[in-house]
Amino acid sequence: MTATPSRRHFLRDDDLTSAEQDQVLTLAQEYAENRRGHRKALAGKSIAVLFEKPSLRTRVSFEVGISELGAHAVLIDATNTHFGRGETMSDAAKVLSRYVDAIVIRTFEDTRIEELAAAATVPVVNALTNHFHPCQVLADLQTVRQRLGHTEGRTLTYVGDAANNMAHSYLLGGAVAGMHVRIAGPFGFTPDREILAQAAVVAARTGGSVTEFTEAKDAVSGADVIATDTWTSMGHEGDGLDRITPFLPYQINAALLAHADPDAIVLHCLPAHRGEEITDEVMDGAASAVFDQAENRLHAQKALLTFLMEHA
Ligand code: CP
Ligand code: NVA
Repeated sequence: MTATPSRRHFLRDDDLTSAEQDQVLTLAQEYAENRRGHRKALAGKSIAVLFEKPSLRTRVSFEVGISELGAHAVLIDATNTHFGRGETMSDAAKVLSRYVDAIVIRTFEDTRIEELAAAATVPVVNALTNHFHPCQVLADLQTVRQRLGHTEGRTLTYVGDAANNMAHSYLLGGAVAGMHVRIAGPFGFTPDREILAQAAVVAARTGGSVTEFTEAKDAVSGADVIATDTWTSMGHEGDGLDRITPFLPYQINAALLAHADPDAIVLHCLPAHRGEEITDEVMDGAASAVFDQAENRLHAQKALLTFLMEHA
């Protein structure tokens, strides 16, 4: 846990307890149902939103969400900062903490956001790192609640690059939400052992579970939620690994989906590489919840920021 009593950060999915996650998701749904009704929640605040990697959804949903809460978003493209010229995350945190009330950041190594959070005196939010994408999984859990009523006891299967940020965030965030998280990816693309073990400890507390599978169809069998993500995450484009052939058995297509519960929903954080990790037929089919999921980024992040400000 990275949280401290005086300064709440959200760097990983398990930085919220189950009760806190429930509180955030409940508020997220209130925001979804009354989008313009909370215009003053963060009135007068300023929030820095800093990107060291590309983004469409995260950038727009944070900027719009912060505006809807009555606060001001300062969008920062890292290519126009001094990070490339040697300014440390620690120094930047100390400076930004003098100006703004929270810092949202998308970056590479998790050590970068950890260094930022350690020196910041305002809440720091992970908008995607190499290991985690916790804001996305909050939105995904909200989508599960909307479509299936609750998360507790539901089975969520993630197939594809099981070594990436979405895989790790599903493990931790799903465990916090009391879900049975199943994960399947090709040899060499399995989750970080430590995060897997940490998720299992959380799941033991919440009544959920985490299980690794080799075969995609075994992982999907009877599941309530089927999720995937790109086979080539940002920063891995030139890593020299074959990121197509070993992944083909993990594609979400109609044949794989047929193994899931008949009422199962399909999630993808987007952007999708249609024809690779997911087919058009499934993306655009009746089980797909991907555009609700994208919308929920807005509501879930507004709720998260409100919660963190109240507990800062
Ligand atoms: N899902 C997601 O984080 O999308 P962006 O990279 O476009 O922000
Ligand atoms: N795993 C993907 C998620 C994109 C939102 C990446 O890191 O590129």
